[in-house]
Amino acid sequence: MDDRDKPGHDEVTWASHRYRNSMTTARKVHVKSFGCQMNVYDSQRMADTLAPAGYAETAHAEEADLVILNTCHIREKAADKVYSEIGRIRVMKEEAARQGRRMLIAVAGCVAQAEGEEIIRRAGAVDLVVGSQNYHRLPEMIARLKEGERIVDTEFPVEDKFDALAPPAPEAIARRGVSAFVTVQEGCDKFCTFCVVPYTRGAEISRPVARIVAEVARLAQAGVREVTLIGQNVNAYHGADLDGAPATLGRLLRRLAQVPGIARLRYTTSHPNDVDDELIAAHGDLPALMPYVHLPVQSGADRILAAMNRRHTRAHYRDVVARLRAARPDLAFTSDFIVGFPGETEADFRATLSLVEEVGFAGAYTFAYSPRPGTPAADLEDQVPAEEKSERLQRLQALITRLWRGFNAGFAGRTVDVLLEKPGRLPGQLVGRTPYLQTVQVMAAPGLIGSVVPVAVTGVGTNTLFGELTQEIHAARAPALSFPERVKDRAGAEN
Ligand code: SAH
Ligand code: SF4
Ligand code: F3S
Repeated sequence: MDDRDKPGHDEVTWASHRYRNSMTTARKVHVKSFGCQMNVYDSQRMADTLAPAGYAETAHAEEADLVILNTCHIREKAADKVYSEIGRIRVMKEEAARQGRRMLIAVAGCVAQAEGEEIIRRAGAVDLVVGSQNYHRLPEMIARLKEGERIVDTEFPVEDKFDALAPPAPEAIARRGVSAFVTVQEGCDKFCTFCVVPYTRGAEISRPVARIVAEVARLAQAGVREVTLIGQNVNAYHGADLDGAPATLGRLLRRLAQVPGIARLRYTTSHPNDVDDELIAAHGDLPALMPYVHLPVQSGADRILAAMNRRHTRAHYRDVVARLRAARPDLAFTSDFIVGFPGETEADFRATLSLVEEVGFAGAYTFAYSPRPGTPAADLEDQVPAEEKSERLQRLQALITRLWRGFNAGFAGRTVDVLLEKPGRLPGQLVGRTPYLQTVQVMAAPGLIGSVVPVAVTGVGTNTLFGELTQEIHAARAPALSFPERVKDRAGAEN
């Protein structure tokens, strides 16, 4: 599967080498993301919010005046990474000080939210700790930070950070590419017993429809063609619609499908219990809504699902999948799995393997259970030994890899719509994505970046498809506009 879709364990330094603020007096900020898509989105919004304060983005930490580490707390490994990274940046900070330059280190995100002042105690080089709901206050925090002082801000604020965040400049949007994330929902009220998110992100909130439509329209005007709506529990979305009544995710998607220039819509991550009829209908009706759903299930054993407080059964999950597939037959599913949850037996684990086979996932993220301080499952007695967890993880991964390869192999000889995203490694080559987020390499003119074009798949590699344009395409934008109709004609016919 693709890194962009990887929850909670990827590192993305997205500041571009190409971008330099023309003001020579501008200060520089380097932001590094350690977490999920929302973490990446937050990193971008921090940079947007610091831009009016004179901060230009840099991809090079060593030249930055402000380094922001946007952290993830989901598993122990993710949380530990931040301390080794602080150690690395501290060396740069000391070198900057020798040159008479002040470098600030800020720790933001979910570790900041969970650990607060503890971070300063463990890592004295850190100047600022800013929680996941407070990063809109960064410019003000930096302005009032005195030499030698430390500021920790992890209180959940009364104001809505989204109201206070500066919108991205058109150049910043263009630099980030044709595919963008937009947070529509944040926080979680589900309290799965293994998960830190309800504590690090707080209670569920949904942004109003009008704000989201305006943000998406702004992105589209600057060249974005694909928007992924993000939320920890995105299909619990219930933001105020234009008439003030709560809207569902299905309703929101319908509104966004009408924004000129938006060719593709996606959403992540969903909970099986919040898949409602409007969302299912949206999959049937909206050609722009990509037929690819990430629907975490975590385990195939009802006993373990209950202990996880998932509040759904295996049968319920299969029913949700079946209802979605009935609405859109070419839907593919991916999921998240945890192996070695406390008390998981070999029989429970086999139930997970059989669920994977029955659903026929196109891919999945698999994790060994990691006890997280403060979560109920961390205190359970029957923890599974590490060797057993890693043995089960390998078996599950082998099965998922087999399914994923088979899914990709099924594309050989087919024609798929590809959103061309960026130049490839070879001269004259572009890289794009299928509706299923598979990477495709194709020889095509750079002017086609941002277009959705039909591509004949000529080869299937381990991580990428190879293809050829099926027709002579000259206009950069024209094919994309006819895209939804074409997909609608073909939906169902391909499976
Ligand atoms: N609904 C969320 C889930 C975030 S966490 C979202 O927006 O994606 C992503 C995945 O990490 C979860 O689905 C789960 O499979 C895994 N995960 C969460 N807590 C974990 C833990 N303590 N140990 C191992 N994996 C965990
Ligand atoms: Fe975590 Fe469960 Fe909420 Fe997902 S639904 S964020 S796994 S508590
Ligand atoms: Fe990690 Fe926080 Fe996202 S814990 S997965 S960065 S919500």
